[in-house]
Amino acid sequence: MPEQVPLFLAPMAGVTDVAYRLLAREAGADFTSTEFTAASGLSRKDAKSWAKVETHPRESPFIPQIFGGIEDEMVETARLLSKNADVIDLNFGCPAPKVTKTCAGAAMMADPDNLISMVERCIEASDVPVSVKMRLGTSHGALTVFEIAERCAQLGVLRICVHGRTLSQKYRGEADWEMIRQVVEIAQPYDVPVIANGDITNAKSAARCLEVTGAAGLMIGRGAIGDPCIFGRIKTELGWEDFDAPWGDANEAGQKHWAWNRYVELVDEIGGPYAARNMKQHAISFTKGLPGGKELRPHLHAIKDFRLIGEPLNIALEAFSQRRYNTLVVPEAIEAAATASEAEGWRR
Ligand SMILES: Cc1cc2nc3c(=O)[nH]c(=O)nc-3n(C[C@H](O)[C@H](O)[C@H](O)COP(=O)(O)O)c2cc1C
Repeated sequence: MPEQVPLFLAPMAGVTDVAYRLLAREAGADFTSTEFTAASGLSRKDAKSWAKVETHPRESPFIPQIFGGIEDEMVETARLLSKNADVIDLNFGCPAPKVTKTCAGAAMMADPDNLISMVERCIEASDVPVSVKMRLGTSHGALTVFEIAERCAQLGVLRICVHGRTLSQKYRGEADWEMIRQVVEIAQPYDVPVIANGDITNAKSAARCLEVTGAAGLMIGRGAIGDPCIFGRIKTELGWEDFDAPWGDANEAGQKHWAWNRYVELVDEIGGPYAARNMKQHAISFTKGLPGGKELRPHLHAIKDFRLIGEPLNIALEAFSQRRYNTLVVPEAIEAAATASEAEGWRR
């Protein structure tokens, strides 16, 4: 078995809200960070942007992630955020056209000098360490990750996370763990840890990724959507630590039931206008891959006030995980969804 390394919940827009990050920690993740947030909004003190980088006293370390193509905005944002954050993470990995057309995210990989200047000035402006998350380059003809990772390591970034795909690949093909291994070697003389990211979906792929890359940590994104217990399962299955699973010895459906209820509790605990904003999307994700999920989803979609989505899914997951039904299409859940869908939508 590979030696234990820290597990990171990948930053994911529309997924990694505060409640989900706290949930992932309880479920075994060692590190979490906010979804990427535009430096243009944060540096102009836009309230909606600042809501995306909210945290909670139990989230320690607190790692907001920022992106932007304008150096001065990134530097000012790093300065502002570093008053409250433990680490500032800079995003050079987003492939979304609305981000790359402003030469931000993964598009920054096309211009190493520009990217490095941004990292250097953010480090200077920030009171706390700066980490970076990047792809392999913009395309297979332009694999800039080696140069950029080495120069970031020379600057003294806290860590380098590499998603083993290029910008033009988006999410297609397989993550190239062999290239991540090369980045690990490049960063080694500078003592900068490299975190491997891409296509880790269970204990087996986690072990394999570590074997190939020799990385100092693993980051998990899509595998944790609708299934935050993946972190605890990996730790337990790899015999890494006596992880005290809060879901006891529940099966995977039972783990989802535990996680969904805990997520709803955390959203309630956090409160405020933004805490519940991803609730419907999370509910839909929790049903994926389970029998009857496809049939249950339209009933959940019909609920306009997404704060009311907790109960119907709770009923369905409970009945299914306790094997009272072999599908999520549980009549009481459908009825609860119908009642909830009669309520008006909630406006924030
Ligand atoms: C819905 C979604 C949103 C994402 N948002 C971000 C983001 O805000 N910041 C970021 O650095 N990467 C973002 N990513 C990329 C992930 O952090 C991660 O690098 C990628 O999904 C590969 O890891 P995986 O194979 O474990 O999913 C996002 C990915 C997904 C699927």
